[in-house]
Amino acid sequence: MTFAIKVNDLTKRYGRVLALKNVRLEVEEGEFFGLLGPNGAGKTTLIRILTGLTAPTSGEVIVAGGNPFEEPVKVKSRFGLVPEISNVYVDFTAWENLMFTGRLYSVPRDVREKRAMELLEILGLKERRDSPVRQFSKGMRRRLAIAMALIHDPQILFLDEPTSGLDVQSTNVIRGILRRLNEEEGKTIFLTTHYIEEAERLCHRVAILNRGEIVAQGTVEELKASIKMSEIVEVTFNAPIPSLSELEKHCDKVIRLRENKIRLYSPHISRNLEAITDFARRNGLEILSVNTVNPTLEDVFIRYTGLDIVAVERMEQIRAKGSER
Ligand SMILES: Nc1ncnc2c1ncn2[C@@H]1O[C@H](COP(=O)(O)OP(=O)(O)OP(=O)(O)O)[C@@H](O)[C@H]1O
Ligand SMILES: [Mg+2]
Repeated sequence: MTFAIKVNDLTKRYGRVLALKNVRLEVEEGEFFGLLGPNGAGKTTLIRILTGLTAPTSGEVIVAGGNPFEEPVKVKSRFGLVPEISNVYVDFTAWENLMFTGRLYSVPRDVREKRAMELLEILGLKERRDSPVRQFSKGMRRRLAIAMALIHDPQILFLDEPTSGLDVQSTNVIRGILRRLNEEEGKTIFLTTHYIEEAERLCHRVAILNRGEIVAQGTVEELKASIKMSEIVEVTFNAPIPSLSELEKHCDKVIRLRENKIRLYSPHISRNLEAITDFARRNGLEILSVNTVNPTLEDVFIRYTGLDIVAVERMEQIRAKGSER
Protein backbone atom coordinates (compact mmCIF):
# COMPACT_ATOMS: atom_id res chain seq x y z
CA MET A 1 0.00 0.00 0.00
CA THR A 2 1.38 3.39 -0.94
CA PHE A 3 0.46 6.48 0.97
CA ALA A 4 -0.12 9.76 -0.80
CA ILE A 5 -0.32 11.61 2.51
CA LYS A 6 0.97 10.62 5.91
CA VAL A 7 0.76 12.77 8.99
CA ASN A 8 2.00 11.75 12.40
CA ASP A 9 1.68 13.52 15.73
CA LEU A 10 1.18 16.88 14.04
CA THR A 11 0.71 19.90 16.27
CA LYS A 12 0.26 23.53 15.29
CA ARG A 13 0.22 26.47 17.67
CA TYR A 14 -0.58 30.08 16.87
CA GLY A 15 0.65 31.77 20.03
CA ARG A 16 -1.66 30.45 22.68
CA VAL A 17 -4.13 28.92 20.23
CA LEU A 18 -3.63 25.20 19.71
CA ALA A 19 -5.00 24.90 16.16
CA LEU A 20 -4.01 21.23 15.66
CA LYS A 21 -3.24 18.67 18.30
CA ASN A 22 -1.52 15.31 17.69
CA VAL A 23 -3.12 14.82 14.30
CA ARG A 24 -2.54 11.43 12.71
CA LEU A 25 -3.84 10.48 9.33
CA GLU A 26 -2.99 8.45 6.28
CA VAL A 27 -4.43 8.79 2.80
CA GLU A 28 -3.77 6.09 0.24
CA GLU A 29 -2.94 6.81 -3.38
CA GLY A 30 -6.13 7.07 -5.41
CA GLU A 31 -8.29 7.64 -2.37
CA PHE A 32 -10.99 10.30 -2.05
CA PHE A 33 -10.50 11.59 1.47
CA GLY A 34 -12.65 14.08 3.35
CA LEU A 35 -11.74 16.19 6.34
CA LEU A 36 -15.01 17.12 7.97
CA GLY A 37 -15.27 19.69 10.73
CA PRO A 38 -17.13 22.76 11.95
CA ASN A 39 -15.85 26.34 11.61
CA GLY A 40 -12.56 26.89 13.39
CA ALA A 41 -11.82 23.16 13.69
CA GLY A 42 -8.43 23.57 12.00
CA LYS A 43 -9.23 22.33 8.48
CA THR A 44 -7.55 25.20 6.65
CA THR A 45 -4.56 25.06 8.97
CA LEU A 46 -4.10 21.37 8.19
CA ILE A 47 -4.43 21.85 4.42
CA ARG A 48 -1.94 24.75 4.57
CA ILE A 49 0.54 22.54 6.38
CA LEU A 50 0.03 19.68 3.91
CA THR A 51 0.69 22.04 1.01
CA GLY A 52 3.77 23.65 2.56
CA LEU A 53 2.24 27.09 3.10
CA THR A 54 2.52 26.95 6.88
CA ALA A 55 5.15 25.25 9.01
CA PRO A 56 3.96 22.78 11.62
CA THR A 57 5.00 23.37 15.24
CA SER A 58 5.93 19.70 15.52
CA GLY A 59 5.22 16.37 13.90
CA GLU A 60 5.83 14.46 10.70
CA VAL A 61 4.26 15.34 7.36
CA ILE A 62 4.82 13.41 4.14
CA VAL A 63 3.01 14.37 0.94
CA ALA A 64 3.75 12.57 -2.35
CA GLY A 65 6.93 11.15 -0.89
CA GLY A 66 8.42 14.31 0.59
CA ASN A 67 8.10 16.98 3.24
CA PRO A 68 6.13 19.86 1.67
CA PHE A 69 7.65 22.55 3.87
CA GLU A 70 11.25 21.38 3.80
CA GLU A 71 11.41 20.02 0.26
CA PRO A 72 9.00 22.27 -1.65
CA VAL A 73 10.71 21.87 -5.01
CA LYS A 74 10.46 18.09 -4.86
CA VAL A 75 6.86 17.97 -3.71
CA LYS A 76 5.03 20.99 -5.13
CA SER A 77 4.87 19.68 -8.68
CA ARG A 78 3.03 16.60 -7.42
CA PHE A 79 0.01 18.31 -5.94
CA GLY A 80 -2.45 21.06 -6.77
CA LEU A 81 -4.36 23.26 -4.35
CA VAL A 82 -7.72 24.97 -4.57
CA PRO A 83 -7.46 27.34 -1.61
CA GLU A 84 -10.24 28.57 0.65
CA ILE A 85 -9.73 32.14 -0.55
CA SER A 86 -9.74 32.51 -4.32
CA ASN A 87 -6.37 32.78 -6.05
CA VAL A 88 -7.93 33.65 -9.43
CA TYR A 89 -6.87 36.96 -10.99
CA VAL A 90 -10.04 38.79 -11.91
CA ASP A 91 -8.36 41.15 -14.40
CA PHE A 92 -7.07 38.19 -16.41
CA THR A 93 -9.14 36.00 -18.70
CA ALA A 94 -9.64 32.33 -17.87
CA TRP A 95 -7.02 31.46 -20.47
CA GLU A 96 -4.50 33.96 -19.08
CA ASN A 97 -4.99 32.61 -15.57
CA LEU A 98 -4.27 29.10 -16.79
CA MET A 99 -1.20 30.14 -18.79
CA PHE A 100 0.13 32.15 -15.85
CA THR A 101 -0.29 29.23 -13.42
CA GLY A 102 1.22 26.82 -15.95
CA ARG A 103 4.30 29.03 -16.23
CA LEU A 104 4.65 29.12 -12.43
CA TYR A 105 4.89 25.34 -12.53
CA SER A 106 7.28 25.45 -15.51
CA VAL A 107 4.91 23.47 -17.71
CA PRO A 108 6.25 23.76 -21.29
CA ARG A 109 4.15 26.02 -23.52
CA ASP A 110 2.73 23.35 -25.85
CA VAL A 111 1.86 21.07 -22.92
CA ARG A 112 0.18 23.83 -20.93
CA GLU A 113 -1.84 25.01 -23.93
CA LYS A 114 -3.09 21.50 -24.67
CA ARG A 115 -3.84 20.78 -21.04
CA ALA A 116 -5.60 24.15 -20.60
CA MET A 117 -7.91 23.38 -23.54
CA GLU A 118 -8.78 19.98 -22.04
CA LEU A 119 -9.41 21.46 -18.60
CA LEU A 120 -11.60 24.26 -19.95
CA GLU A 121 -13.63 21.61 -21.74
CA ILE A 122 -13.95 19.34 -18.68
CA LEU A 123 -14.87 22.25 -16.43
CA GLY A 124 -17.38 23.73 -18.85
CA LEU A 125 -15.51 27.02 -19.38
CA LYS A 126 -14.40 26.61 -22.98
CA GLU A 127 -16.80 29.17 -24.42
CA ARG A 128 -15.75 31.73 -21.84
CA ARG A 129 -12.01 31.25 -22.06
CA ASP A 130 -11.33 34.78 -23.31
CA SER A 131 -13.65 36.62 -20.93
CA PRO A 132 -12.11 38.46 -18.00
CA VAL A 133 -12.78 36.56 -14.79
CA ARG A 134 -14.35 39.69 -13.31
CA GLN A 135 -17.42 38.74 -15.40
CA PHE A 136 -17.53 35.18 -14.03
CA SER A 137 -20.04 33.91 -11.48
CA LYS A 138 -18.83 32.45 -8.19
CA GLY A 139 -19.31 28.92 -9.49
CA MET A 140 -17.34 29.65 -12.68
CA ARG A 141 -14.49 31.17 -10.67
CA ARG A 142 -14.37 28.09 -8.46
CA ARG A 143 -14.25 25.85 -11.54
CA LEU A 144 -11.42 27.93 -12.95
CA ALA A 145 -9.55 27.62 -9.66
CA ILE A 146 -9.86 23.83 -10.00
CA ALA A 147 -8.54 23.97 -13.57
CA MET A 148 -5.58 26.07 -12.38
CA ALA A 149 -4.81 23.54 -9.66
CA LEU A 150 -4.68 20.82 -12.34
CA ILE A 151 -2.64 22.56 -15.04
CA HIS A 152 0.56 20.70 -14.12
CA ASP A 153 -1.29 17.37 -13.94
CA PRO A 154 -0.58 16.64 -10.26
CA GLN A 155 -1.19 13.27 -8.57
CA ILE A 156 -2.88 14.82 -5.57
CA LEU A 157 -5.54 17.52 -5.50
CA PHE A 158 -6.20 19.45 -2.28
CA LEU A 159 -9.41 21.46 -2.04
CA ASP A 160 -10.40 23.65 0.90
CA GLU A 161 -14.21 23.76 1.00
CA PRO A 162 -14.65 23.61 -2.78
CA THR A 163 -18.43 24.03 -2.78
CA SER A 164 -18.85 26.43 0.11
CA GLY A 165 -21.18 29.30 -0.75
CA LEU A 166 -22.21 27.91 -4.15
CA ASP A 167 -25.71 27.16 -5.38
CA VAL A 168 -26.98 23.60 -5.79
CA GLN A 169 -26.29 23.45 -9.51
CA SER A 170 -22.66 24.63 -9.31
CA THR A 171 -22.13 22.38 -6.31
CA ASN A 172 -23.34 19.35 -8.25
CA VAL A 173 -21.20 20.18 -11.27
CA ILE A 174 -18.09 20.49 -9.10
CA ARG A 175 -18.84 17.28 -7.19
CA GLY A 176 -19.30 15.44 -10.50
CA ILE A 177 -15.94 16.71 -11.77
CA LEU A 178 -14.14 15.71 -8.58
CA ARG A 179 -15.62 12.24 -8.68
CA ARG A 180 -14.56 11.85 -12.29
CA LEU A 181 -11.01 13.06 -11.59
CA ASN A 182 -10.80 10.45 -8.87
CA GLU A 183 -12.43 7.55 -10.67
CA GLU A 184 -11.20 8.06 -14.21
CA GLU A 185 -7.86 9.78 -13.74
CA GLY A 186 -7.00 8.05 -10.46
CA LYS A 187 -6.16 11.30 -8.68
CA THR A 188 -5.92 11.32 -4.92
CA ILE A 189 -8.36 13.89 -3.61
CA PHE A 190 -8.18 15.50 -0.20
CA LEU A 191 -10.99 17.91 0.52
CA THR A 192 -12.17 19.77 3.56
CA THR A 193 -15.82 20.42 4.08
CA HIS A 194 -18.33 21.23 6.75
CA TYR A 195 -21.11 19.76 4.62
CA ILE A 196 -21.78 16.34 6.08
CA GLU A 197 -23.67 15.19 3.03
CA GLU A 198 -20.74 16.16 0.78
CA ALA A 199 -18.38 13.93 2.75
CA GLU A 200 -20.93 11.13 2.77
CA ARG A 201 -21.56 11.29 -0.98
CA LEU A 202 -18.03 11.70 -2.26
CA CYS A 203 -15.49 10.32 0.14
CA HIS A 204 -14.11 6.83 0.56
CA ARG A 205 -12.83 7.77 3.98
CA VAL A 206 -13.55 10.63 6.31
CA ALA A 207 -11.80 12.13 9.33
CA ILE A 208 -13.81 14.28 11.69
CA LEU A 209 -11.80 17.20 13.04
CA ASN A 210 -13.05 19.04 16.11
CA ARG A 211 -11.14 21.80 17.91
CA GLY A 212 -7.87 20.69 16.34
CA GLU A 213 -8.24 17.01 17.14
CA ILE A 214 -9.26 14.11 14.94
CA VAL A 215 -12.09 12.58 16.90
CA ALA A 216 -13.01 9.84 14.42
CA GLN A 217 -11.61 8.43 11.19
CA GLY A 218 -12.73 5.69 8.83
CA THR A 219 -15.10 4.83 6.01
CA VAL A 220 -18.58 6.29 6.34
CA GLU A 221 -19.82 2.79 7.16
CA GLU A 222 -17.21 2.30 9.85
CA LEU A 223 -18.06 5.63 11.41
CA LYS A 224 -21.74 4.77 11.46
CA ALA A 225 -21.01 1.39 12.99
CA SER A 226 -18.87 3.05 15.66
CA ILE A 227 -21.92 4.78 17.09
CA LYS A 228 -24.27 1.84 16.58
CA MET A 229 -23.86 0.84 20.21
CA SER A 230 -25.75 3.98 20.92
CA GLU A 231 -29.41 3.85 19.98
CA ILE A 232 -31.16 6.71 18.30
CA VAL A 233 -34.87 7.46 18.61
CA GLU A 234 -37.03 10.27 17.38
CA VAL A 235 -40.05 11.26 19.40
CA THR A 236 -42.84 13.50 18.15
CA PHE A 237 -45.16 15.24 20.61
CA ASN A 238 -48.51 16.87 19.97
CA ALA A 239 -47.28 20.34 20.98
CA PRO A 240 -44.05 22.36 21.28
CA ILE A 241 -41.59 21.02 23.85
CA PRO A 242 -40.67 23.59 26.53
CA SER A 243 -37.17 22.57 27.64
CA LEU A 244 -34.96 19.58 27.02
CA SER A 245 -32.83 19.84 30.13
CA GLU A 246 -34.88 17.28 32.04
CA LEU A 247 -34.37 14.67 29.31
CA GLU A 248 -30.68 15.42 28.96
CA LYS A 249 -30.14 13.80 32.35
CA HIS A 250 -31.32 10.49 30.96
CA CYS A 251 -29.32 10.13 27.77
CA ASP A 252 -26.07 11.05 26.01
CA LYS A 253 -27.59 13.77 23.92
CA VAL A 254 -30.95 15.24 22.94
CA ILE A 255 -31.42 17.53 19.99
CA ARG A 256 -34.48 19.40 18.86
CA LEU A 257 -35.43 18.66 15.25
CA ARG A 258 -38.63 20.70 15.22
CA GLU A 259 -40.45 22.48 17.99
CA ASN A 260 -42.41 19.32 18.73
CA LYS A 261 -39.87 16.71 17.65
CA ILE A 262 -36.65 15.55 19.29
CA ARG A 263 -33.90 13.03 18.67
CA LEU A 264 -32.26 11.17 21.55
CA TYR A 265 -28.97 9.29 21.64
CA SER A 266 -28.55 6.78 24.40
CA PRO A 267 -26.85 3.44 25.00
CA HIS A 268 -30.14 2.01 26.29
CA ILE A 269 -33.13 3.82 24.89
CA SER A 270 -35.54 1.10 25.96
CA ARG A 271 -34.77 1.96 29.58
CA ASN A 272 -35.28 5.64 28.83
CA LEU A 273 -38.74 5.23 27.37
CA GLU A 274 -40.16 5.51 30.85
CA ALA A 275 -38.32 8.81 31.34
CA ILE A 276 -39.77 10.05 28.06
CA THR A 277 -43.34 9.17 29.03
CA ASP A 278 -42.83 10.78 32.44
CA PHE A 279 -41.46 13.86 30.74
CA ALA A 280 -44.50 14.03 28.45
CA ARG A 281 -46.94 13.64 31.35
CA ARG A 282 -45.28 16.31 33.49
CA ASN A 283 -45.27 18.79 30.61
CA GLY A 284 -48.83 18.03 29.54
CA LEU A 285 -47.66 16.59 26.21
CA GLU A 286 -48.91 13.62 24.28
CA ILE A 287 -46.51 11.35 22.42
CA LEU A 288 -47.59 11.05 18.80
CA SER A 289 -44.85 8.72 17.60
CA VAL A 290 -41.60 7.04 18.61
CA ASN A 291 -39.25 5.80 15.90
CA THR A 292 -35.83 4.25 16.10
CA VAL A 293 -33.52 5.49 13.35
CA ASN A 294 -30.36 4.20 11.75
CA PRO A 295 -27.43 6.55 12.18
CA THR A 296 -26.37 8.77 9.31
CA LEU A 297 -23.01 10.48 9.01
CA GLU A 298 -24.77 13.48 10.52
CA ASP A 299 -25.41 11.50 13.69
CA VAL A 300 -21.76 10.46 13.77
CA PHE A 301 -20.78 14.12 13.45
CA ILE A 302 -23.18 15.14 16.21
CA ARG A 303 -21.88 12.46 18.54
CA TYR A 304 -18.20 13.23 17.98
CA THR A 305 -18.29 17.01 17.85
CA GLY A 306 -21.11 17.73 20.29
CA LEU A 307 -22.56 20.05 17.65
CA ASP A 308 -25.92 19.57 16.08
CA ILE A 309 -26.82 20.26 12.51
CA VAL A 310 -28.86 23.33 13.46
CA ALA A 311 -25.74 24.87 15.03
CA VAL A 312 -23.68 24.03 11.96
CA GLU A 313 -26.24 25.58 9.63
CA ARG A 314 -26.47 28.67 11.79
CA MET A 315 -22.69 29.11 11.63
CA GLU A 316 -22.81 28.71 7.87
CA GLN A 317 -25.47 31.44 7.60
CA ILE A 318 -23.42 33.79 9.75
CA ARG A 319 -20.37 33.12 7.65
CA ALA A 320 -22.25 33.60 4.36
CA LYS A 321 -23.48 36.97 5.64
CA GLY A 322 -19.92 37.89 6.61
CA SER A 323 -18.58 37.14 3.15
CA GLU A 324 -21.31 39.18 1.43
CA ARG A 325 -20.01 42.34 3.06
N1 LIG B 1 -2.69 32.83 11.05
C1 LIG B 1 -3.31 32.57 12.20
N2 LIG B 1 -2.98 33.20 13.34
C2 LIG B 1 -3.59 32.92 14.51
N3 LIG B 1 -4.57 32.02 14.67
C3 LIG B 1 -4.96 31.35 13.56
C4 LIG B 1 -4.36 31.59 12.27
N4 LIG B 1 -4.94 30.78 11.37
C5 LIG B 1 -5.86 30.08 12.06
N5 LIG B 1 -5.88 30.40 13.36
C6 LIG B 1 -6.73 29.80 14.42
O1 LIG B 1 -6.65 28.40 14.32
C7 LIG B 1 -7.91 27.78 14.51
C8 LIG B 1 -8.29 26.95 13.31
O2 LIG B 1 -8.54 27.80 12.19
P1 LIG B 1 -8.78 27.24 10.71
O3 LIG B 1 -8.90 28.41 9.80
O4 LIG B 1 -7.75 26.23 10.40
O5 LIG B 1 -10.19 26.52 10.88
P2 LIG B 1 -11.18 25.93 9.77
O6 LIG B 1 -11.58 24.57 10.22
O7 LIG B 1 -10.58 26.05 8.41
O8 LIG B 1 -12.44 26.90 9.89
P3 LIG B 1 -13.49 27.37 8.75
O9 LIG B 1 -14.49 26.26 8.60
O10 LIG B 1 -14.11 28.59 9.36
O11 LIG B 1 -12.74 27.68 7.50
C9 LIG B 1 -8.87 28.92 14.81
O12 LIG B 1 -8.96 29.06 16.20
C10 LIG B 1 -8.18 30.12 14.20
O13 LIG B 1 -8.55 31.30 14.85
MG1 LIG C 1 -11.16 26.96 6.71
